Amino acid sequence: MSKKRTSLTQYLVEKQRTDKALPAELRLLIEIVSRACKTISHSVSKGALGGVLGSLEQENVQGEIQKKLDVISNEVLLEANEWGGHLAAMASEEMEAIHRIPNRYPKGEYLLMYDPLDGSSNIDVNVSIGTIFSVLQAPPSASGRDITEEDFLQPGHTQVAAGYAIYGPQTMLVLTVGEGVVGFTLDREMGSWVLTHENMQIPEDTQEFAINMSNVRHWAPPMKRYIDECLAGKDGARGKNFNMRWIASMVADVHRLMMRGGIFMYPWDAREPNKPGKLRLMYEANPMAMLVEQAGGMATDGRRRILDIEPKGMHERVSVMLGSKNEVARVTQYHLEAD
Ligand code: AHG
Ligand code: MN
Ligand code: MN
Ligand code: MN
Repeated sequence: MSKKRTSLTQYLVEKQRTDKALPAELRLLIEIVSRACKTISHSVSKGALGGVLGSLEQENVQGEIQKKLDVISNEVLLEANEWGGHLAAMASEEMEAIHRIPNRYPKGEYLLMYDPLDGSSNIDVNVSIGTIFSVLQAPPSASGRDITEEDFLQPGHTQVAAGYAIYGPQTMLVLTVGEGVVGFTLDREMGSWVLTHENMQIPEDTQEFAINMSNVRHWAPPMKRYIDECLAGKDGARGKNFNMRWIASMVADVHRLMMRGGIFMYPWDAREPNKPGKLRLMYEANPMAMLVEQAGGMATDGRRRILDIEPKGMHERVSVMLGSKNEVARVTQYHLEAD
């Protein structure tokens, strides 16, 4: 008995035909990004056999030593997206400046931002990693002139699409175009993305948290309070036991909570008091916040809704707390009460 399979293309074409009519250029963009993710997935799966492991002797704009796969993935996405005519410009965690579409290619109205390879510390140890992307429209005022960095600096609620690919035991693509969240699994033999997770929903309650506990001594009091209460278990203020998971690839930690609920936090840290957090607003926090909200969850920086933050720079950092609604609401309330 064969069950009818829906491919990513079919899903997107059907979206084009609904009342909200997904624009053809946006469909093309998503298809091209997802094709690039297939290429990255292939490289990732080759590991040592493909010569893709290890580091380069250079730092990116974030001050991190680049891994070979950070650079390979960045180039795959850049090359795949340059010529399609759907983009005005791109920006990446791995590139200091924005990348305008060269004049030899036609230009479109969209702006693409990405974290080409998320979870770099897990590359060499064969643990799940991923790619995160976010799509904005170039402002109308940009038509007929060169795109600037300011054109990208729009709050996350203006994103028209966001998603991630996870390179794990299976390769999956999790996507939103602003009408819920869907998941596709890569059929490696056929080379196609098959719809396997319709209408992904994050449960409102959870007993699982994800945070780098080694930093506990550097956190602010509201953060410590929240985690202390989780650790106190069922005899403490929360009256229930909590479990902890920490993969250290945001993609994989977020994917887990998309599948079964949970709260993921990367808070402010006293070691670098002037840095709001570790994660990047444009390449990590905004796309994940859109996905989480679209799946019924909540995403804040401890005080504000992430999607309402007015960005001031392409590589801006932010505190992140996202996932199951009732837990994110609680840790946010603890921060607001402490102000
Ligand atoms: P990236 O590999 O894109 O630089 O991102 C790494 C991020 C994120 O994936 C993860 O949640 C976090 O860094 C892990 O940080 P720790 O080193 O504190 O575990
Ligand atoms: Mn990095
Ligand atoms: Mn990342
Ligand atoms: Mn990265």
